Amino acid sequence: MIPVNRSRSLTRGASPWSFPGMDYSDSRRKPHIIGKLVIAAFLTALCIFILKQSPGFGGPSVFSRHELGVTHVLVTGGAGYIGSHAALRLLKESYRVTIVDNLSRGNIGAIKVLQGLFPEPGRLQFICADLGDSRAVNRIFAENAFDAVMHFAAVAYVGESTLQPLRYYHNITANTLLLLEAMSAHGVKTLIYSSTCATYGEPKQMPITEGTPQVPINPYGKAKKMAEDIILDFSKKSNMAVMILRYFNVIGSDPEGRLGEAPRPELREHGRISGACFDAASGIIPGLKVRGTDYPTNDGTCIRDYIDVTDLVDAHVKALDKARPEKVGIYNVGTGKGRSVKEFVEACKKATGVDVKVDYLGRRPGDYAKVYSDPSKINQELNWTARYVDLEESLSIAWRWQKVHRNGYGSS
Ligand SMILES: NC(=O)c1ccc[n+]([C@@H]2O[C@H](COP(=O)([O-])OP(=O)(O)OC[C@H]3O[C@@H](n4cnc5c(N)ncnc54)[C@H](O)[C@@H]3O)[C@@H](O)[C@H]2O)c1
Repeated sequence: MIPVNRSRSLTRGASPWSFPGMDYSDSRRKPHIIGKLVIAAFLTALCIFILKQSPGFGGPSVFSRHELGVTHVLVTGGAGYIGSHAALRLLKESYRVTIVDNLSRGNIGAIKVLQGLFPEPGRLQFICADLGDSRAVNRIFAENAFDAVMHFAAVAYVGESTLQPLRYYHNITANTLLLLEAMSAHGVKTLIYSSTCATYGEPKQMPITEGTPQVPINPYGKAKKMAEDIILDFSKKSNMAVMILRYFNVIGSDPEGRLGEAPRPELREHGRISGACFDAASGIIPGLKVRGTDYPTNDGTCIRDYIDVTDLVDAHVKALDKARPEKVGIYNVGTGKGRSVKEFVEACKKATGVDVKVDYLGRRPGDYAKVYSDPSKINQELNWTARYVDLEESLSIAWRWQKVHRNGYGSS
């Protein structure tokens, strides 16, 4: 495998990112076509190289036949943040795992960590492929005997989705359709789908239950809602077992420090509050800007529901375990506890030991005051409860990884 060395360097003195709202977008940015072409060419070359080395393409392998007592899970997007943590958990639980990822946003370093932990034949294979390439997807399904699919692969930044809506509909909605067609054609009957609280939009009533009307307000949320609708319609006409998990704001990393969150440097301006706090603590950005201090909340800043990635992947394993033919389960995955941006920033300061500079500014248009889940359905039906509900603990774990991986997986 080729090591991918990435630099996370961002210009010191650049504008601090602003919160709340998970995302920041800057419509003044112009696309760098040549840069994108070079990146696309590099990714294609990397994929071809890795594809040639992938066991799934070398001829019949243990991955190509069903084995009694072994559940073979296709993890799409398994080189990414949540997908890699899910793959680790599945491997620990003795599942057979195939990761398909085009490495557009994920890290080959995460794959290498997993391969190092589970080197035994028949445990893990990585296939570098694009889920928008129907021929490649069909070939993968033809050459592998999957029992279930966990579909994480997606572009996943709200702000970016408003700038590149077609990309989001293509990557999220169209690719999910292709994946479903391949599952149907090859008789794979269990799907665990990564959805999001962004499908709810701006509900008037809190907490959000699974019955809260879904009225997404940005292309990311709409693309995910459309993908959900396609899955649900198909499930009515097939005996597929479907679990749709709607995540709230995901934070944290592997408590044993093997994996972490390492988005590409160019995506960090669209990024999430934990990444920005860590970047501010590391001095990569000068500080944080919190937008809005006069919301009708206890301390005036926005409220969000932060779910630790360890709890999130636990929900996936439980969902897989409880998935049954012809049954659909839709679940919110959150703690049920709303935390203010101020609380989050204080937890980040404590976890990192850095007195991060914070500027409190006026509201950002379009942000809403409170978003938090009612997780009672998943508590009751899947016997799942969030255990990492201490923000400082989750952030301390993530910070430990960040400190020794200043350049993401490039420096591990
Ligand atoms: N992180 C969050 O807070 C959050 C919240 C709600 C939902 N989700 C959902 O969880 C899933 C995983 O998110 P994440 O935070 O790990 O993102 P991520 O960017 O870290 O991982 C996504 C992975 O998918 C891969 N990918 C993207 N398009 C692909 C394609 N066409 N073919 C093959 N691989 C492709 C990327 O290379 C990357 O490795 C996404 O579906 C996202 O919408 C995330």
